[in-house]
Amino acid sequence: MEGEYIVDLEGLKKLAKDLARELKGNEVIFLIGDLGAGKTTFTRFLVEALNPKGEVNVTSPTFAVMNVYPTERGEVYHADLYRVKNFDFTDFEGSGILVIEWADYLKDLKPDIVVEFEHLDENRRRVRIRRTH
Ligand SMILES: Nc1ncnc2c1ncn2[C@@H]1O[C@H](COP(=O)(O)OP(=O)(O)O)[C@@H](O)[C@H]1O
Ligand SMILES: [Mg+2]
Repeated sequence: MEGEYIVDLEGLKKLAKDLARELKGNEVIFLIGDLGAGKTTFTRFLVEALNPKGEVNVTSPTFAVMNVYPTERGEVYHADLYRVKNFDFTDFEGSGILVIEWADYLKDLKPDIVVEFEHLDENRRRVRIRRTH
């Protein structure tokens, strides 16, 4: 799953599916990339791949800071630090999959997986996935 990919939307969906298959359920995942790069879209595909319980509508948590999505594989905590820059995740660590947009500024939390997004053109993104240990 680690590597560098150039994907359209369908390709991104497949990446999310493949990553979902590898997750144990307690990972910290940092999503890095500019506005519109695809971080929220990737999270939506990831949550969909984890079999959400009931109807879920994955949207940007920019204003809420964090949204929680229950799935068959446990909770997904989806945070966006674009505005707040920092947030105390202590209570959530280990109790679900933590997906954090704009985690660049976060000091006290180390990711297990980092996904970087780069805008290539309207429909294509370069996506790098790496594990940190
Ligand atoms: N290959 C692609 N990967 C991700 N998003 C894409 C791609 N092609 C087009 N898009 C569009 O780009 C936008 C990405 O927005 P979003 O996921 O909200 O970005 P971010 O959360 O990084 O700001 C969406 O409207 C999505 O449909
Ligand atoms: Mg977003």
